[in-house]
Amino acid sequence: MSDEDTLSDAAGSMSADRFVAISYDDAIPNNVDLSSDKQLQRALETWRPKYLDWWNDMGPEGYQQSEVYLRTAVGVDAGGWAKFGYVKMPNYRWGVLLAPNVEGRTIPCGRHKGQPVWREVPGEHRSLLRRLIVVQGDTEPASVEQQRFLGATAPSLYDMRNLFQINVEEGRHLWAMVYLLVKYFGKDGREEAQALLERQSGQQDNPRILGAFNERTPDWLSFFMFTFFTDRDGKMQLAALAESGFDPLSRTCRFMLTEEAHHMFVGETGVQRTIEATCAAMVKAGVKDPKDVEAVRKLGVVDLPLLQRKANFHISVTRDLFGSEISSNAAEAFSSGLKGRFNEANLKGDDHVLQDAHYPITRVVDGKLVADEVPALRAINSRLLDDYIVDCQGGVDRWNKVIEKSAIDFKFVQPHKGFNRKIGEFAGHRDRGAVASAEPRLAARRRRHEIHRLADEAVPRTGQIRELDRAAARRHQQPARRLRVCEDLLREGDRRRAMRLDPLSAEPLPPPCGGGKKACEAKDRLRAFDLRAHAARGSINSRSEPSCRRRSIRS
Ligand SMILES: [Fe+2]
Ligand SMILES: [Fe+2]
Repeated sequence: MSDEDTLSDAAGSMSADRFVAISYDDAIPNNVDLSSDKQLQRALETWRPKYLDWWNDMGPEGYQQSEVYLRTAVGVDAGGWAKFGYVKMPNYRWGVLLAPNVEGRTIPCGRHKGQPVWREVPGEHRSLLRRLIVVQGDTEPASVEQQRFLGATAPSLYDMRNLFQINVEEGRHLWAMVYLLVKYFGKDGREEAQALLERQSGQQDNPRILGAFNERTPDWLSFFMFTFFTDRDGKMQLAALAESGFDPLSRTCRFMLTEEAHHMFVGETGVQRTIEATCAAMVKAGVKDPKDVEAVRKLGVVDLPLLQRKANFHISVTRDLFGSEISSNAAEAFSSGLKGRFNEANLKGDDHVLQDAHYPITRVVDGKLVADEVPALRAINSRLLDDYIVDCQGGVDRWNKVIEKSAIDFKFVQPHKGFNRKIGEFAGHRDRGAVASAEPRLAARRRRHEIHRLADEAVPRTGQIRELDRAAARRHQQPARRLRVCEDLLREGDRRRAMRLDPLSAEPLPPPCGGGKKACEAKDRLRAFDLRAHAARGSINSRSEPSCRRRSIRS
């Protein structure tokens, strides 16, 4: 960090017994005793300038030279490990952080189950292991590239800080994967580490490996949906990799998971604020029908059906990230002990080898959805996807509670698993996807061409996304400039004037949500904060409040 004196302790960051200090004396902060491995140190130091070039070219646009208030890890303990401080983003101290070693850990699944975990790469699984690390590593810089223009239209300083925090952490996740490649895979690993900086999100010739990471994130609503749905895929994949018998991968992913929790929190509360703003505007204007989109849009808010379609899009492209429901690669990764299921070590009721087990899946046979039982080993992806869908539902339910409280007759649903899929069992069954989408009864009654029309309308059309984009830009360009001034005032210690410009500016960033009581308290505090944000300025999608209202809130 450029100026460590300015950093202040996050509550409890040093208190826990299991605190594992990170060395900031080295050029690359780490808790892996990097200085004793000269070869690795040299390899990472060679990669670092290339990473910085990539960050300067593809990282947040327009804010590289601004001092930004960011959190840096000072330990890897789940109870609290962060320090906050001002730093120019290219000076952020990206490093290599692993969760603490667990003594006596054994391989939790597959044919090596019960054997001691591997500290070195098992030769027979080398190429599959490398592939798993590369695919995970490729998603990390991709999201930074996708989000690079959002700083210009940040709805508030709080949102902007969260965006940049997420961006630097995704950059650190790239470091985490590069560490594994460079340390354990020699020349191949170094070449893969280089290639991670060369592929580019959305680029035609050399795109990112997975589809969702080549989609655009053009506006803040997309960002919130992305961080809720797509970062949650990250959580599921990291959780499965945290069960790996290759212990360095497990420890790396365990620490990454603590950061991922915050990303999803930003997404959930961001969408929630959007819904709150819509509901509040509808109630205030006496608009009862959520499908009367013209009336709702006239209020300057995003109508709920469009939010549903936006969610449909992000849900379906994210589900494709799980790969084919039936997969021999996934079976091999599990059997070889390289990747477990979600929460593998704590799963009860099976032998964790799955040699004779079966798992229910849905297939499309002759144009019909058919329930089938397949060998559980081959359905590992399908199971992870099912766990993901359950995990998403918690947030969707919380969104629905907001609507319910406003007595508006609308409910968000997750579309059927087969909706709008490009990969797996349902790929190419567009009509079937629509039949099984948010309105199954309705769709079942429609003729075939109408079903196709429904499929087209179930995700936002390009024009609608552009419309959202432009609207977001119009609403937020002005505040974004104001936020820069606000950040300057805060850095100079003029909190009063900063508060006048942006009532949220004195709010602390959330601490790392590593789970447990602390995370819940942080969530509660932020929920209250989000509501104040909404009361003070509307939400990301509402028109500015009249100035008299703003004055009364400031005073
Ligand atoms: Fe990540
Ligand atoms: Fe993330």
